Amino acid sequence: TFVVTESCIRCKYTDCVDVCPVDAFREGPNFLVIDPDDCIDCAVCVPECPVSAIYAEEDVPNDQRDFTPLNAELARVWKPITRTKPALPDADTWSTVQDKRDQLER
Ligand code: SF4
Ligand code: F3S
Repeated sequence: TFVVTESCIRCKYTDCVDVCPVDAFREGPNFLVIDPDDCIDCAVCVPECPVSAIYAEEDVPNDQRDFTPLNAELARVWKPITRTKPALPDADTWSTVQDKRDQLER
């Protein structure tokens, strides 16, 4: 499966969702996740993300490994998103912030 990681938090550009052939993205208040039960590992979403938040599970950086189970957990409660929409208002500011896990809203 593919995994959305920290750089998406408070950005949520949503360019990724338009290209997913199986509508695997789920939306929270300020972050998206990929449902591992739906993702078919096509990788087309990866280059769409302006902040490079999406990785193949085996390529998730060591300091982001917790995002793999987090995607699975939140995918069970969040609703699908299938169309691109405007990014969050301060997305361009937050796109350069490195350590922002504490900003994640559930
Ligand atoms: Fe969707 Fe393909 Fe990305 Fe999986 S890898 S979330 S199937 S676009
Ligand atoms: Fe997030 Fe990147 Fe998609 S910021 S919403 S993973 S385009």
